[in-house]
Order: sequence, then C-alpha cells, then structure tokens
Amino acid sequence: MKMHRCMKEEFKCGPREIWFFFNGRTLLGFLCCELWEFQKSYDLARFSLSHDPNSYHRPSGSELYISSFALDPKYRHLLRGKTAFSLGMEYLGLSQSFSSAILLVSDEWEAAKRIYRDYGFIEIRRLRQFFGNTDAVVMRTVFDSSIIGIPKNT
Ligand SMILES: CC(C)(COP(=O)(O)OP(=O)(O)OC[C@H]1O[C@@H](n2cnc3c(N)ncnc32)[C@H](O)[C@@H]1OP(=O)(O)O)[C@@H](O)C(=O)NCCC(=O)NCCS
Repeated sequence: MKMHRCMKEEFKCGPREIWFFFNGRTLLGFLCCELWEFQKSYDLARFSLSHDPNSYHRPSGSELYISSFALDPKYRHLLRGKTAFSLGMEYLGLSQSFSSAILLVSDEWEAAKRIYRDYGFIEIRRLRQFFGNTDAVVMRTVFDSSIIGIPKNT
C-alpha cells in the first residue's frame, strides 16, 4: 500500500490537502483535509460540502478539518478504514502542524464514527436532521492540551 499526496494545483482543488491510498496503480481511497484557524465553535456554513475552502483555509491554522474520507468497499480486503485513517493522520502529521482535528459525520455512518472515536474524537455538537432525517455529528480531538482555552477533548 502506498500513499500519494495530491499537489493542490495539479488537481485544482484549492487549498486542500488530499492523500490518496494506492495498491500498485489501484486507487483504494482518499483522505481530504484543510487547515483552519482554531475557533471553539464554527459557523455551520463551513461544514457544507459546497463550501469554498479558500474562505477558511489558513496555512498557519492549528486545527485540521477532515472534510472527506472514503475507501472503495471493493478493496476492503486490501485496506481497512481504521488502518487508512491512522496512516493518513500519521502522514498529515509529518507534513502539517496542527494541534486539534475536527470533522462532521452522518450519525448513520457507524464504521466512520467508530474509527474516529477509537482515534480519540468525541462528539462536541449534534446537528438535528442535517442530512434529511439524519443527524450530523461534529467530532473533535485535541492533540495538544496546552492550547489556551481548549481543555483536552472538549
Ligand atoms: C468510513 C469507511 C472508510 C470505513 O471503512 P471500513 O473498512 O468499513 O472500516 P473498518 O473495517 O476499519 O471498520 C472500523 C470499525 O467500525 C466497525 N463497524 C463497521 N461497520 C459498523 C456498523 N455498521 N456498526 C458498528 N460498527 C461498525 C468495524 O467492525 C470496525 O471495528 P473494529 O475496529 O472493532 O473491527 C468506509 O466505510 C467508507 O468509505 N464509507 C463511506 C464514506 C464515509 O462514511 N466516510 C466518512 C465520512 S466523514
């Protein structure tokens, strides 16, 4: 399994960091992130799938926003989600400096929620019926509890 980092300009994807997971030449999945200037609570517009990352991305931001993560289920025998997520976070940690991470996940996506919880994310906000009848859950983990004003995992 190899990881390939997307050159932002190459894909014209704006100020995002995208890591692709490959087995040989076969694309297994991706992890897509932005860096945000930390705020205890964000405006909901930021989490919209159609948001413009140019508006929020700050190269010196201390919070990693995980905007998208998915694996092709056809290749689950080659790469499990929990392994991919840990690897992705490890590689991101080598190329970016961040103290916390935040994401929004559908309450129905049990495997994803399990992966994030196991990684240390906790639910900090619930958005009722964000996806039709389904709630969205905002989860955060804090890697550096010395940041002023952020108690560990809140
Ligand atoms: C999220 C995703 C990458 C997870 O990949 P995966 O290979 O299924 O994940 P894993 O097999 O590593 O499963 C992680 C854990 O969740 C558990 N799990 C899987 N489905 C579950 C379910 N329906 N209910 C409860 N637990 C579940 C697994 O048993 C595993 O737990 P374990 O560590 O005790 O074995 C994949 O499902 C995916 O691409 N989903 C679509 C997009 C998505 O949901 N992205 C997240 C958006 S933020």
